[in-house]
Amino acid sequence: MSGAITRRVLAAVGRGPEKRIAEQRAPDTAQILSAMQVPVVLLDPDNRFRFVNHAAEQFLGVSVPQLAQMRLTDLLPADNPLFMLIDQVRTTGVTVSDHELTLESPRLNKQGITVQGSPLPEEDGAVLLVLQDASAARALDRQLAFRGAARSVTGMAAILAHEVKNPLSGIRGAAQLLEASVDEADRELAVLIRDEADRIRDLVDRMEIFSEKPIARSAVNIHRVLEHVRMLAQSGFAAHIRFAEHYDPSLPPVWGNRDQLIQVVLNLVKNAAEAVTGPDTRNPEIILTTGFQHGVRIAVPGATKRLDLPLLVSVRDNGPGIPEDIRPHLFDPFISSKPSGSGLGLALVAKIVGDHGGLIEVESRPGRTEFRLHLPVLTDEESDT
Ligand SMILES: Nc1ncnc2c1ncn2[C@@H]1O[C@H](COP(=O)(O)OP(=O)(O)OP(=O)(O)O)[C@@H](O)[C@H]1O
Ligand SMILES: [Mg+2]
Repeated sequence: MSGAITRRVLAAVGRGPEKRIAEQRAPDTAQILSAMQVPVVLLDPDNRFRFVNHAAEQFLGVSVPQLAQMRLTDLLPADNPLFMLIDQVRTTGVTVSDHELTLESPRLNKQGITVQGSPLPEEDGAVLLVLQDASAARALDRQLAFRGAARSVTGMAAILAHEVKNPLSGIRGAAQLLEASVDEADRELAVLIRDEADRIRDLVDRMEIFSEKPIARSAVNIHRVLEHVRMLAQSGFAAHIRFAEHYDPSLPPVWGNRDQLIQVVLNLVKNAAEAVTGPDTRNPEIILTTGFQHGVRIAVPGATKRLDLPLLVSVRDNGPGIPEDIRPHLFDPFISSKPSGSGLGLALVAKIVGDHGGLIEVESRPGRTEFRLHLPVLTDEESDT
């Protein structure tokens, strides 16, 4: 931000009693704005970006040097209601607010945004925009509720694993013996028993992860996890689907359990692949993205500190979207819209992400479904142990 603009913003925010405080301590306004977690954007009369704080950079998904070369019209189509709000601010000279705005373009996809636009005194046509993503708050709220759902199967999972597995291996062994000794016609039945026993064992194995065991953690390279899953997918169930990767190579390791993280990503990619496989999706595509995101934090149960979750992993598909009736219970076990689905995939994902102290968010509409994981990184404290 140029010095001239800094002074003008100071003039704008420094009226009344605040002005004295501003003069006494001479704060750097750009610094104050940058520290704000709310996205703030200053546009010049031609809608060029004159100032963007850190939160706005993240919100728009474009870096400051790039934004410095751009106008708002490069980010949003001219018929977006945001331009009406900006015009209104310019013509009326007063602050205008709008709620539940959709900011949508090939580069941007935000819904439920509250925007406040204010004029800057002494600079004709400049508009200060404050953006608030109410939908993000709603999504985070919902995920916290999902955690409890995963817990409710904990006890049942432990009992199942314990009580079912032993007799099951007996049944399987007996069927195998029969297979070797009975005649052709009965052999088919013995094979059927063995196959079904295997199916139950797989199910119980998947349930077992719900039992409360502490997880073994180490520094995990999330890109290796993603590439492992992508290769599994492309050589099997997702051979017909195009994959795109947008990885941030500078990401630090996740503090987590590699096998479980593979399970999480595998379940998300499998769902995405199943979603884009229908007749409604023309060019099936799955997009894997990683990034570093400041400012996502969560309270740790039973502790006063809050855990930072700066690592973002997203799995996106262009399928038909999550069915409306499933959404409120998406992460509950046994919720499925698929004829042969067990409905355990996302319950498992929620459980593992929760065990890692992370968060999962979903945004879904026809043509675009995105699951976003927020995960903790390895801190100095942990690498010492
Ligand atoms: N990417 C997606 N696009 C559309 N719907 C999805 C997507 N991911 C999940 N869903 C919906 O959520 C439901 C629950 O998913 P979940 O992975 O828990 O179970 P499932 O895939 O049906 O069965 P399982 O994973 O146990 O084989 C799915 O049946 C589907 O309706
Ligand atoms: Mg699934």
